[in-house]
Amino acid sequence: MKLELRSAMLPRLSVYILISLPVLLVQGSTADKKKSPATPATPPPRPPAPLGDPSWALGLRLYQALRSDSGSVNTVFSPLLVASVARSSWVEGRRAPLPASSKTSSRPHPPPRLEPMLGSLVSTALESFAKANGTSFHLHASSALFSKQAPPVSQAFVKDSQARFRVQHQPLGKGDSKADLKQLHGWVKAGLGGLEGAPLAAEIQAKAGALILASALRFKGLWEREFSEESTDQRTFLGKKYTKVMMMHRAGLYRHHEDMENMVQVLEVPLWQGKASVVFLLPFHVESLDRLEKLLTLELLSKWLEKTNISSVIISMPKANLTSTLSLQKQLSALGLTDAWDQNAADFSGVSDKSKGKVHLGAVLQWASLELSAHAGKADVDLEEENIEKPKLFYADHPFIIFVRDNTTGALLLMGALDHAEGEALHDEL
Ligand SMILES: *[C@@H]1O[C@H](CO)[C@@H](O)[C@H](O)[C@H]1NC(C)=O
Ligand SMILES: *[C@@H]1O[C@H](CO)[C@@H](O)[C@H](O)[C@H]1NC(C)=O
Ligand SMILES: *[C@@H]1O[C@H](CO)[C@@H](O)[C@H](O)[C@H]1NC(C)=O
Ligand SMILES: *[C@@H]1O[C@H](CO)[C@@H](O)[C@H](O)[C@H]1NC(C)=O
Repeated sequence: MKLELRSAMLPRLSVYILISLPVLLVQGSTADKKKSPATPATPPPRPPAPLGDPSWALGLRLYQALRSDSGSVNTVFSPLLVASVARSSWVEGRRAPLPASSKTSSRPHPPPRLEPMLGSLVSTALESFAKANGTSFHLHASSALFSKQAPPVSQAFVKDSQARFRVQHQPLGKGDSKADLKQLHGWVKAGLGGLEGAPLAAEIQAKAGALILASALRFKGLWEREFSEESTDQRTFLGKKYTKVMMMHRAGLYRHHEDMENMVQVLEVPLWQGKASVVFLLPFHVESLDRLEKLLTLELLSKWLEKTNISSVIISMPKANLTSTLSLQKQLSALGLTDAWDQNAADFSGVSDKSKGKVHLGAVLQWASLELSAHAGKADVDLEEENIEKPKLFYADHPFIIFVRDNTTGALLLMGALDHAEGEALHDEL
């Protein structure tokens, strides 16, 4: 079927009608075998709310800092991995214990605001995600602390960060910054399970004593119920540029909420065996994500997620890969991680005995990739038949925000924004 989208609003109605019928027909005849009650007896319990979880708090703050850069297109990152590398080196990496609140006045600087976000939840969440790997999703994830001509690193520190935060230690070679970069990229490619990581926007100049915190993550969710390959077709994605992309469709019962006042749809799509889920925030109409991003707070997100309830939904979304390569110095500094970059002020006494005046943070880097595909954990399995009635339309042909959360701990593994879907360009028509 061929569609011409001239203005953003008008033709969307016809698109809805066109997609809903075939999708429903496909759905009605699929191999959901078990004859059973039409509506689910009780919806599954929700994971813990974002409010109060350090990975969500950090994620939202970082997201807003990243997106305030007007050039940012397609952002994706793992708050959980940033939290774990930051905690392993920066909090655990100093010998002095964290200041008790009564003692803060004796410190030259007020305690950084980042610290309270890096709670002990982090290591529990990492474990929980590692357990769900291979069931609810395919995950490659690595974190490392690279050191450039640093004094000998404490073995106790290396052991502890490996055990608790899955952060390895890797010395960088003696070569120049080009050689460093080559070493980093080799590590990234292995960390991404063979995927070539996109290059960094700016060069890394690691001075002697620099620590580079790197993490790499590649994620592919496996839906609880697959999107049918037969109904996948070519559509227009109205992003930064208008592109022709493959869109997948599915009608089913999902947790869904429409915030009429803020004109946002909230949708939660469970992954295979429910160990994690993907949450989407989609503006009602075609627009950039600026407005939605200004609204985003932990309180509002928690409220939205609480308000979702099981409804009939027809989902259409692009098959896409969302990838980012990020250098987070500016954003983490804005969150209060300031002294660590300064050779004279940094405290990495827990990393090395001879750290004073030398060991400092050189960079915090992350490579992340998230794949939206049609696949489920298992294609042919007895799931309860879904009774679709008066479905809502979740037609994601324009930019949306995405979260991947752990069901058990509630932690935020990934957060991102799809502003642009890769595909053959149409000339802009707005
Ligand atoms: C997930 O499982 C795959 C395949 O078994 C493995 O290669 C990968 O290292 C695992 N990822 C993590 C983060 O444990
Ligand atoms: C989360 O996991 C629990 C326990 O495994 C399960 O009972 C529940 O249904 C899951 N939640 C979702 C949303 O799938
Ligand atoms: C789900 O949402 C609909 C629409 O907002 C509402 O009418 C219904 O009562 C809700 N159901 C539950 C179980 O909250
Ligand atoms: C996303 O990347 C995977 C792995 O590199 C590839 O198999 C898939 O075709 C890509 N999907 C799209 C829509 O480009």
